[in-house]
Amino acid sequence: MSELPEAAKNLPADTFAGQVAVVTGGGTGLGLEISRGLAALGAHAVILSRDPDHHAPFLAEAEASGWSAEAIAADVREPEQVRGAKDAVLERSGRVDVLVNNAAGNFVCPTERMSSNAWRAVLGIVLDGTFYCSREFGKAMIARKSGQMLNVVATYAWSGMPGVAHSASAKAGVLALTKTLAAEWARHGIRVNAIAPGPFHSEGAEMNLFPDAETQERIAKSIPLGRFASAAEVAAQCLHQLSPASAWMTGECLVFDGGASLAHGMWRAGARTARKPKPKDETER
Ligand code: COA
Repeated sequence: MSELPEAAKNLPADTFAGQVAVVTGGGTGLGLEISRGLAALGAHAVILSRDPDHHAPFLAEAEASGWSAEAIAADVREPEQVRGAKDAVLERSGRVDVLVNNAAGNFVCPTERMSSNAWRAVLGIVLDGTFYCSREFGKAMIARKSGQMLNVVATYAWSGMPGVAHSASAKAGVLALTKTLAAEWARHGIRVNAIAPGPFHSEGAEMNLFPDAETQERIAKSIPLGRFASAAEVAAQCLHQLSPASAWMTGECLVFDGGASLAHGMWRAGARTARKPKPKDETER
């Protein structure tokens, strides 16, 4: 039995015992950390990923660690493939308790140079994919009157950000979907929340968003807490949101970003004010 994954260390070992958890994009990056945490804490973890090469590392680790796991090849942009994945999960496990909509596509591209296909690729994965998965796995949750969903968004869903018009627009849609489904499906015993992580280390993000050390250093310096998060740190927050500790939370988006989205650019924290100090005799009176 291997050591407990970092993300799982703050929760009881049986937190997700007996549950079936589906994680889209669950074989790499943040998705992999979430899948590992869920499986280590007792869930049957199902990773949904279009690329079978992304299945093997998690399945091998699960086998070595005695976790219950499976992988399904599906492109979340394709409603029929999502429906097929849902049918396969229900056929094998009979239920689904947790859905993490984590699959994403992203790259930095000025809007005036963004092709229609580039726009559609990102909107398709992030917004359409979240909708298709929520609708399909949601039906299974409604049937059992229980379940929960966690959607991975970003703070630029409401702030906007140059260079990621496609992703920002898609994440804004996912945030609206999060709140809508939370209100719509609460009566079925389903919680729907979101998390907006700030910059964290992952191969995909580093390749597509901050490829060189200089960029990473500049971004780290702009974060009030002075560093990137690790993917496991973000996954630990995701697991907390999915745990019974958050049982009364729904329709919420947790910002987990080291303060990156706080207004902090105009004056340096701790900088002196422009006001001249009073003459010594006045201040000492
Ligand atoms: N800059 C500009 N356009 C880009 C691009 C980039 N870095 N990467 C892809 N595109 C464009 C392609 O040129 C294509 O448009 P075109 O047909 O007009 O030329 C369109 O996006 C689709 O690209 P393609 O590679 O065919 O699509 P895909 O479905 O195979 O890939 C992506 C999906 C685009 C999201 C791909 O980058 C991906 O899968 N990335 C890995 C996962 C990821 O991004 N994770 C998020 C980390 S934060």
